[in-house]
Amino acid sequence: MMDQKILELTALYEISKAFASSLDLKVASNKVIDILSSVLGMRRGTLTLLHPETGELVIEVAHGLTREERERGRYRVGEGVTGKVMATGEPMVVPDIGQEPLFLNRTGARGDITHENIAFLCMPVRVYGDTIGVLSVDRLFDDRMMSLEDDLRVLTIVASQIGQAVKVTEMVNQERQRLIERNQRLEQELQHKFRLRNVVGHDRKMEEVYEAVERVAGTKATVMIRGESGTGKELIARAIHYGSVRAGAPFIKVNCAAIPEPLLESELFGHEKGSFTGAIETRKGRFEQAHEGTLFLDEIGDLPLALQPKFLRVLQDMKFERVGGSATISVDVRIIGATHRDLERALRDNTFREDLYYRLNVVPIYLPPVRERVADIPLLIEHFLKRCNEEHGKTVEFSADALETMVGHGWPGNVRELENCVERVVIMTRETVIDAEELKKHLKLLLRSDPVGASHVAPPHDHSLPGNVRTIEREQISEALRQCGGVQAKAAKLLGLTPRQIGYKIRKYNIE
Ligand SMILES: Nc1ncnc2c1ncn2[C@@H]1O[C@H](COP(=O)(O)OP(=O)(O)OP(=O)(O)O)[C@@H](O)[C@H]1O
Ligand SMILES: [Mg+2]
Repeated sequence: MMDQKILELTALYEISKAFASSLDLKVASNKVIDILSSVLGMRRGTLTLLHPETGELVIEVAHGLTREERERGRYRVGEGVTGKVMATGEPMVVPDIGQEPLFLNRTGARGDITHENIAFLCMPVRVYGDTIGVLSVDRLFDDRMMSLEDDLRVLTIVASQIGQAVKVTEMVNQERQRLIERNQRLEQELQHKFRLRNVVGHDRKMEEVYEAVERVAGTKATVMIRGESGTGKELIARAIHYGSVRAGAPFIKVNCAAIPEPLLESELFGHEKGSFTGAIETRKGRFEQAHEGTLFLDEIGDLPLALQPKFLRVLQDMKFERVGGSATISVDVRIIGATHRDLERALRDNTFREDLYYRLNVVPIYLPPVRERVADIPLLIEHFLKRCNEEHGKTVEFSADALETMVGHGWPGNVRELENCVERVVIMTRETVIDAEELKKHLKLLLRSDPVGASHVAPPHDHSLPGNVRTIEREQISEALRQCGGVQAKAAKLLGLTPRQIGYKIRKYNIE
């Protein structure tokens, strides 16, 4: 008797381990039924679950049944012993299946059932009080060490664990489905947001840009976007990607100027485990992540000379090795580069390779600075005003003389500066109509809070891993602040930080 109790406990212990070790219901149930058989000698364990659409009971896992036998084992609710348990939600024990007219032997697995002395135990599986399936096992009379009551007790526990597992699986699946849908929705939003028609400007030079974007959209041609800071280089890069056949694949951005040279190679090409101190895991680089999509290399004029040959080779035949690896990896990536630098001068100074320059410059696109397209300024203001008003639930307008001031402003920071200015005014002002005087107050504040200067006086950094991490963190925060016109909360959101975290880091790195 003692031995049987120990076996029972052993089985239950193994069964909880099986459930804990796999989120896959089929895998876990299979193990469970194996354990029922190997430890407790219960034969032909079968888990039948209600199919949510057809309302049929379908065998999920079965022990000792061929696939054909399993396929035959379909019941309707109320049909046979299994069906009856399903319908009533009450367990059933058939002490001798040879004597039971309800027993259908649908699977045919037991041959002539009148000759063997088989008991059949059938237990409902419940979730939230609803019966969603049935767990059943066979018991031979002669190998029975435990009473049928003992068996029933064990099966009650196992069936309730299966019920829990079904519930968890359903929850995980729902969550997964929710994430997939959310992802699709966000992707559509992105595609919509970066469509060319959201790019503002009727200037002839802008029309040329649009033409070029449309011309390259259907091709894989390498594109090089040139233009001062804040002229919309990244915006155009995204418009190219989301307007191309690659729109469904990733758009991956790397800022060559923000990543310290020792890390950039592994960032771009990935690395093999153990290839340098700190490379604990093998990691895919940006090129691999961008496979079938677009790789946007921002500030490519800052690509270190030492990396340029390897980079050139990838541009030529889309092949490379990970850092510390020997296997050659092939990718299919459209490259878009961008820089505000004078590349021609970099050629003369020998900081940029000529062969790379020509490889990249297949289709150059020039973005004009705002001061060369002043006629677009009112359009840009209107565009940003509309968006910011919507975002902040306001109805701010600019008076005619304020507009005049805006048009007359030089906008050295181009569209980004203009966008930040409008956003700041909308957020800060108490007026609904902004006149020139009110505007000038904000412009002055904007100039004072511009952290551009701060990011250019980065302290020299050591090349240890923590040193590199600090440099990256500092640069990314400065960059985000710059992009958000110094609005900390917005920069925090961009970086996935809380406002508290960013405040702390700004003080830590002494960023203005
Ligand atoms: N023509 C435009 N129409 C609407 N919004 C624009 C336009 N050009 C730029 N913007 C907006 O201005 C901001 C700056 O643009 P973007 O980041 O693309 O500039 P950039 O050239 O990459 O600047 P930087 O060299 O500083 O990185 C973005 O918020 C972008 O959406
Ligand atoms: Mg940019």
